[in-house]
Formats: sequence, C-alpha cells, structure tokens
Amino acid sequence: LTADSYPYVKRDPNYKQLEDSDIAHFTEILGDSKLVIQEDLDFYNEDYMHKYMGQSKLVLKPKTTQQVSEIIKYCNEKKLAIVPQGGNTGLVGGSVPVFDEIVLSLSSLNKIRSFDEVSGILKADAGLILENADNFLAEKGYIFPLDLGAKGSCHVGGTIATNAGGLRLLRYGSLHGSVLGLETVLVDGTIVDSLHSLRKDNTGYDMKQVFIGSEGTLGVITGFSILCPPRPKAKNVAFLGLESYEAVQKTFIEAKGQLGEILSAFEFMDNKSQELVKTYNKLDHPLEEPYPFYVLIESSGSNKDHDDEKLEQFLEDVMEKEIVSDGIVAQDETQLANLWSWRELIPEASQHKGGVYKYDVSLPLKDLYDLIPAVEEKLKAANLVGETDEFPVIASVGYGHIGDGNVHLNVAVRRYTKEIEKAIEPFVYEWVQQHHGSVSAEHGLGFQKKNYIGYTKSENEIKLIKQLKNLYDPNGILNPYKYI
Ligand code: FAD
Ligand code: MLT
Ligand code: ZN
Repeated sequence: LTADSYPYVKRDPNYKQLEDSDIAHFTEILGDSKLVIQEDLDFYNEDYMHKYMGQSKLVLKPKTTQQVSEIIKYCNEKKLAIVPQGGNTGLVGGSVPVFDEIVLSLSSLNKIRSFDEVSGILKADAGLILENADNFLAEKGYIFPLDLGAKGSCHVGGTIATNAGGLRLLRYGSLHGSVLGLETVLVDGTIVDSLHSLRKDNTGYDMKQVFIGSEGTLGVITGFSILCPPRPKAKNVAFLGLESYEAVQKTFIEAKGQLGEILSAFEFMDNKSQELVKTYNKLDHPLEEPYPFYVLIESSGSNKDHDDEKLEQFLEDVMEKEIVSDGIVAQDETQLANLWSWRELIPEASQHKGGVYKYDVSLPLKDLYDLIPAVEEKLKAANLVGETDEFPVIASVGYGHIGDGNVHLNVAVRRYTKEIEKAIEPFVYEWVQQHHGSVSAEHGLGFQKKNYIGYTKSENEIKLIKQLKNLYDPNGILNPYKYI
C-alpha cells in the first residue's frame, strides 16, 4: 500500500523537496559516495510485511555519530524530513517513509565499543545487529537481555527505539530496565552522551527513558549501554498440548510456582497458528494429536540435572492433574531449536501467502484469547474468510507471550484489501479498550496505529506526548505522519 491508499494523509508541503545540492552536501559529510544510495531503494522503502511502501529517493548510511549529527542539523535547517531506520523489521509501518522522506539508515554504525566482564555492561553503536551482539556476549559468558525472531536483521538501536519485548521479557524484564544509557542525536545536531555504566543514578529526570519506545520521533539513537545477565549454562524446552485456554492459564500458575527462578519463557499458540506453520515448513508437528492450544515452556539455569529434574516433576504434576494433555521435552540442542521454531515461524508463516494484518495487544490474562474468535466472527460475517482464492482471508490466529499478558492476533490474508481493514479496524481497538488493554504491547504505533493511540492513552497523556514531540522536534522532521 502506498500513501495514495490512505487519502487522509497528505504530503506536508512545508517539507522541502530534495535537490541535487542537498545530495552533494550529504556526500561531502559522508565523504564516501557508497554511503549515499539513490538506486534500488525498494528494501528501504518497503516494510517487512510488504504492507507499506514509501517513495524515498535517498538513503544515507553514516558511519559515525558526528556524521549523523551533521546530517540531522542540515535536514532540520532545510526542513527535509527523515526516517531513522534500523534493520527494517518493525511491524507497524514505522520504519519506512510514507512519501519522499530521506531514509537515515544506521546499518553502517555498528561497532562494539566496550564490554566490562565484571559488571556485564555492553556499550555499542546503535546499528549493531542483535544476533551479533548476542554472539559476542556468548563468548564472554553473557547473554543479551532481549531475544526475538528478527534477531538476525534487527538492530539493537531499532529494538530500543521500539522498546521491543521479545521472547524472554518474563525473565530479563523490559529494556526500560536493562538499558543503562543512550547516546542520542537531537534534531539541532546536539549529541547527548549518557552512555553510563551505572545501575543506579537518581540525579534528575531519567532522560533516556523517553527515547526507549519513541520510534524515531524524538531523535536518533546512535549508541547504547546495556546490562547483560550471565548466560545460563543449562537450557531446556517443553512443548505441551492443552484442551482449553483455561488450562493454559492453570499451566502458567503452576509453571511460575514450580519452576520459579528457572522459568525463562512461557509462550502460547493456538492450533490455527500451528496449521499455518505446518503448511509453511512442510514438517510433522512435534505432537501427533492436534490440540486447540499449545504452550512452549523454556527453563534456563546453572545446573542441568537440577533444572531437568524440576521440569520433569512439573510436567508429571500437570499431567497428573490433567491440566496438560500431552507434551514433549527436547532431548538435545537440535530438538530444542526445532521446538522453538514452531513458535518463532508463526510471523513468517502468517504472511507467506500474501500478507498479514497484525495486532499486538496487552490484555488481562483471563480475556486474552477471546479477542481471536471475536475477530474471526466479524470476518466471517463480512464473508471474507474461505479456503479458495475468492476469499481474501485465510485464517485469524492467536499466539504470544502469555507470561507478559501479550497476545498477537495475525489475520493471514491472500491480499491486502480495504474490506478486511474496515471489518477489523477500529473493531479490534474498541474491543481492547473495552477489556482494559493496550492497543500496542510491544510493536509500537508507527503508521498503522497512529490514529488509535486514544484507545489506550488519555487525552492528557496524548497532550503531554505532543508537547514533548514539539519540544524535541519543533519542525516535525523526524519520522513524520507516524506515532501521533
Ligand atoms: P526498524 O524496523 O528499522 O525501526 C523500527 C522503528 O524504530 C522505526 O520507527 C524507526 O524509525 C525507529 N528506529 C530504528 N532505529 C532507530 C535509531 N537508531 N534511532 C531512532 N529511531 C530508530 N517485536 C517485539 O517486541 N517482540 C518480538 O518478539 C518480536 N519479534 C519479531 C519477529 C519477527 C520475525 C519480526 C520481523 C519482527 C519482530 N518484532 C518483535 C518487531 C520488532 O519491533 C522489531 O524486530 C525491532 O524492534 C525493530 O528493530 P529494527 O532495527 O528492525 O528497527
Ligand atoms: C512475535 O512474538 O513473534 C513477534 O512479536 C512478531 C510477530 O508477532 O509477528
Ligand atoms: Zn511478540
């Protein structure tokens, strides 16, 4: 979908159109024409879901914070709009331009700056790929406190800018807790260095926090300092089949109680999500019989025998109590990765037939799954769901980080259509508001949800957000048409 598909968004005429003299100036700042890209820009213009398509004519790839500063200062003075871009794996259309905004890619700013083996504090450039950060830490006996399916492409800076939650938030907490400091570049070119190595610092407002989750609208994150925990020596995974959503909740209570400190992930999936993965990877499902719900439990600790015994006892108990109907425990690293893949492949499997409408919401646990059948009914009533090509919708599936009260609803489609969007929006957002949830648990607002923030935040909160935006970016050049 290009901007023409959204008639309510118009290019703001206050933004300058790019001229040759601007490109010459950027080339001078970067000192290397290979960092100024004007051709084959589809990768930078199109988002991961192939849902949003911008029309940028220029991508800049600064290698230093100083270059970022000079670029932004110039853009602010000339009123040239910019989209900061990490690995472009964001799922709300926030990382791609809407019109002709310049893409400021952080991918060349990707060096590790320092690592303290005593405290576990890593400092690096924002463009460092998450998996590279974790591989580096693995050699030192540490782990990155965030993991997600896009780790091979997303930047740490991008995950901080979206405040990504991921697969082990339950264990390692949110980035609001683990990020210790940021280096940011403000719109007037000021470089704010707060790359602290301190866990505790109560001197005044904690300014870095507003950048965590700011989605490129307040400034550009160029560096980070993060506290990394020791890498667990033992890991195990159990994949369970359950008859009801109530059983999923009971299993969660038992897992927290019985596994305690070794519980590191509690993910759930409905059967329809597993059907999509099965069609996609053409493999047999780990459990022979189909169940309406599945749960993946991961344990991580320091003593394999102790952890395995604890997991085994827990499984015996929940099977005896008939909370869990069937299950399998990984016997080696390969099986462990294979069991995880049935969870991690859901995003790819959901969109591979054409596209996906994604909703990532927080809800009180008791109501969490009811959203999926409610949406399915809406789509069926609109006669949009079916097995043949004439129907645009394939299925509505639910899965997510149940340990964090976060469900993902994916409406897998053969093509994007206005009818689907009309049937489920604002229905999903209204439903979430009625059930006291949040319209974005972890993916953010971006372009997709910019008109829907009011379903979660109050008028006064939105007013404060707007005041903050005006303070940091008075000309509105940073990631326009998004967020609010
Ligand atoms: P981009 O997509 O490039 O950008 C995202 C936003 O941040 C944009 O608004 C952009 O303008 C801004 N931005 C990027 N870099 C900077 C910077 N340096 N300074 C300022 N602003 C910047 N999310 C979760 O929370 N949990 C998950 O489990 C999860 N799993 C995923 C699995 C897959 C397969 C995929 C494709 C995505 C998943 N995500 C998940 C979405 C998640 O938001 C992104 O993967 C990640 O946070 C974005 O990183 P990125 O570097 O690709 O940023
Ligand atoms: C996930 O949990 O898999 C991610 O948030 C990505 C997604 O839902 O597509
Ligand atoms: Zn998620």
